Amino acid sequence: MKINKTDEVVDLWWKCKINSILFDPLYSTNKVDYMLAKEKFAKKLIEQKFEWIAEGVFKKVFSKKNIDFVVKTYNSGAVDDKKDKRFKLDKYCVDSIYFDGAILIQPKVKRNKKNKAYEFFEKKWGKHYCELHDIHQENIGWLNNKPAIFDFMTC
Ligand SMILES: Nc1ncnc2c1ncn2[C@@H]1O[C@H](COP(=O)(O)OP(=O)(O)OP(=O)(O)O)[C@@H](O)[C@H]1O
Ligand SMILES: [Mg+2]
Repeated sequence: MKINKTDEVVDLWWKCKINSILFDPLYSTNKVDYMLAKEKFAKKLIEQKFEWIAEGVFKKVFSKKNIDFVVKTYNSGAVDDKKDKRFKLDKYCVDSIYFDGAILIQPKVKRNKKNKAYEFFEKKWGKHYCELHDIHQENIGWLNNKPAIFDFMTC
């Protein structure tokens, strides 16, 4: 079976989680220390030549040349809004490759001409709608030559 690069990253994440289980000899409530797991994971990604490409308010973003995905680790408590077909922006939102509440793997969008991508959405839905749903130049780009949204708000 061919293992792809995203499977390798998920595997790495699972290993970090397993190595971050807090052993409690008195109780049977052994839990993953997610802060520790994310710390170990970030180190492993850097070792594998990933670069820390951005740190937003809610997450750290990693990627490297020649791969077509990004890996995000969430700061504690933060979770993105889910894709939801009831919202018209849904069809422009990139699909998740892997998500478990602590990390997210997502297709990498091209970030050139992001002003053009924004113009597309503003023209389509208006400035107010874009503001309401957090659609701005730092949350969008291009995927398969189509405007794409990778971070948004629907609530
Ligand atoms: N799928 C992606 N493809 C390419 N670059 C991305 C992708 N996702 C995130 N980035 C880069 O990482 C930055 C932060 O990502 P994201 O918006 O998901 O995090 P955030 O914590 O919500 O950030 P902010 O608080 O600034 O909105 C983006 O502005 C962009 O530069
Ligand atoms: Mg954002």
